[in-house]
Amino acid sequence: MIKSRLCDLVGIKYPIIQAGMGPFGTNKLCIASSNAGVLGLISSSGIASMGFQPEIYEYFCRTGGADPQADHETILRTIFQQTLDQTREKQGIFGINVMVSAEMMEVAELIVKTMIRAREEDPEMRKRFKVLVTSAGDPLPWADTVKKTDLVWMHVIPSVKAAQRCKKAGVDVVVASGHEGGFHTSWEPVHSMILLPAVVDAVSDEKTLVVGAGGFCDGKTLAAALILGADGAQMGTRFLATAESDFHQLWKEGVVAAGDRGTLVARGFVGPARWLKTPRSEEHARNTLQKSPGVFLGYPDDYATIDMSLIEFEIESINAVYRGEKDKALLAAGESAQRINDMPKVNEMVQDIVNAAEAILKNVPAKHIA
Ligand SMILES: Cc1cc2nc3c(=O)[nH]c(=O)nc-3n(C[C@H](O)[C@H](O)[C@H](O)COP(=O)(O)O)c2cc1C
Repeated sequence: MIKSRLCDLVGIKYPIIQAGMGPFGTNKLCIASSNAGVLGLISSSGIASMGFQPEIYEYFCRTGGADPQADHETILRTIFQQTLDQTREKQGIFGINVMVSAEMMEVAELIVKTMIRAREEDPEMRKRFKVLVTSAGDPLPWADTVKKTDLVWMHVIPSVKAAQRCKKAGVDVVVASGHEGGFHTSWEPVHSMILLPAVVDAVSDEKTLVVGAGGFCDGKTLAAALILGADGAQMGTRFLATAESDFHQLWKEGVVAAGDRGTLVARGFVGPARWLKTPRSEEHARNTLQKSPGVFLGYPDDYATIDMSLIEFEIESINAVYRGEKDKALLAAGESAQRINDMPKVNEMVQDIVNAAEAILKNVPAKHIA
């Protein structure tokens, strides 16, 4: 059976992480993933959509079993409890993804505090709600809070420099996120084929694990991640297009239908982002070129300097997905959409991925060693 240090550290069966994905959330997907033996992640960014994406906010709460009228802490607690209850039979392990960018800081603090409190109050929650995955920001300011707990701490980074900062902060698992990946990507991006082995060389040791993200979607790419020295792979786009995924059907079908060279990069909420290529996203990319050229030139800008009509266009286009308005929709996804042609059930998909990876890895010596 395929396994890695990630399985031992987290207590999962297979070295795969179902990625955090907003704004629709992954409340149901996390349960299916956790029950399938991989690390399921709840996505928290939906909680920040209350003011400007009310329909998506309501959807995010309801899929978590929560009342949208309740306060944020109660909503989060309800989502955590629903996940715990619905993964009890299989004793699934799960975690949460929290974006810690400047735009999300206030809500990020509330989420982490609520998670820690929920775990302190319930031993079962503590045992199985085990992982915090921070992303889109600096890990160091979180070190004091996280290192006082027994959480497994993962942080998503786009560069060797950022991986070294994770090491300084005491992050347990560095998730190296390459430019192939869906939705937010880096201002100065590097693809997984270069980034992952570079991060492994820079920080992987007996205390620090490395996981690849961006482009990983099947047995071949999982096997490749392990061969490049990683302890596992995080998959977003692949899990988005599954039967249990919380994302709108339009979004899932968009991933399945994407063909050769099916994505492009344009502005997202917190920086550059990868979208499925459509007339709408091409219009957004043209606007980005004019109003946020740093996306293509590699220098960061923020809400203080950019023309906010770009962000308004994005919000309007994601709201359009909720309403099923295909022509007005913007759909984030990774380059791996090109290799995804079905919408399977999570458990069957995970089995196919691990069986294929195992067969590849078993054959490597016979095929390539004389
Ligand atoms: C629709 C979508 C939404 C995403 N939302 C988030 C998010 O809220 N937080 C985050 O850290 N990453 C987010 N990501 C990135 C994923 O967590 C993951 O790193 C990425 O999808 C990996 O690349 P892949 O799509 O090639 O598998 C999102 C990705 C997609 C496709």
